Amino acid sequence: MKEFKDKVAVVTGAASGIGLGIARRAAKEGMKVVLCDIEKDSLNQAEQELKSSGIEVISVLTDVSKAENIEILAKKTIDAFGEVHILCNNAGVAAPGILWELNLSDWNWALGVNLWGIIHGIRVFIPIMIEQDNECHIVNTSSMAGLLLGEAWNGIYTVSKHAVIGLSESLRSCLTLLRKKINVSVLCPGIVNTKIANSERNRPEEFCDSDYEPCIDRVKKNYPELEKLAEELPKLWDYGTSADQVGDVVFEAIRKNIFYIYTETGPSWKRGLQTRFDGIMDAFDQIKLILKDLKSKKSQ
Ligand SMILES: NC(=O)c1ccc[n+]([C@@H]2O[C@H](COP(=O)([O-])OP(=O)(O)OC[C@H]3O[C@@H](n4cnc5c(N)ncnc54)[C@H](O)[C@@H]3O)[C@@H](O)[C@H]2O)c1
Repeated sequence: MKEFKDKVAVVTGAASGIGLGIARRAAKEGMKVVLCDIEKDSLNQAEQELKSSGIEVISVLTDVSKAENIEILAKKTIDAFGEVHILCNNAGVAAPGILWELNLSDWNWALGVNLWGIIHGIRVFIPIMIEQDNECHIVNTSSMAGLLLGEAWNGIYTVSKHAVIGLSESLRSCLTLLRKKINVSVLCPGIVNTKIANSERNRPEEFCDSDYEPCIDRVKKNYPELEKLAEELPKLWDYGTSADQVGDVVFEAIRKNIFYIYTETGPSWKRGLQTRFDGIMDAFDQIKLILKDLKSKKSQ
């Protein structure tokens, strides 16, 4: 898609951070914007901000993990603007912890937003886009955590973000096979200055057990050796790339139909990718030797 003016963008998780950065850029392009988020006050603020720039905008209070909420989001989008051209499935949360100690509520909450949010998004919006039969683009937000080696104490997040990469690759293949006019990208941010480290602010009551404590507090309590790291880590995000810059990169990438959208291209990020892929290929070569050896033993 090269031209955005007067087209319609739907952005989930648009009340803050990367989603707001994408929505701001959509507004600058002259698009009509649908903001969706679970955080009411920030959502209203974002709506006011974009309205004051003179564009047409609506906001829809939505929990992306609920299929019915996404159906309502789609209905309100079509009622307001008639069509949808760009869908950014961006809402996401982090639930850090030790994999076997995280409870079912942690898993259900984080996979519900990070993965099911996107599943609901494509199930509801793609049939509408196919029916429209005009040029559309879907951007699913994964993370560098979806491409790099899994982080030791960010397992749920890693699982969800690797799944988003697989889902997006598969989605792209399928839309290409069926010759649909919908392109796909997967956004893989590195470290962006947002409120992601404070994700628990939006954890719905239904995912808070009676003995609820934020994920990170449990790590600090149970693993004193990780306490310092747990205190320091969130500060990393203060020095991250700006969310507005991510919005700019996303739109340039849509224009050029780039599938993997990175926000950081420094050498350490590249080394990280290389390390994972080297590990995969090394194992391939090692297993090849083992299979050769087994075959020759069998034939003796
Ligand atoms: N910030 C980073 O460094 C970074 C890196 C890689 C990936 N990401 C991804 O970027 C996306 C945006 O996160 P961010 O960094 O801007 O964080 P953020 O916390 O600033 O924004 C996330 C937004 O999602 C909303 N949200 C949370 N649960 C929701 C739900 N159930 N339904 C609807 N909205 C919900 C929040 O209210 C918030 O506005 C996420 O998918 C995140 O995993 C961020």
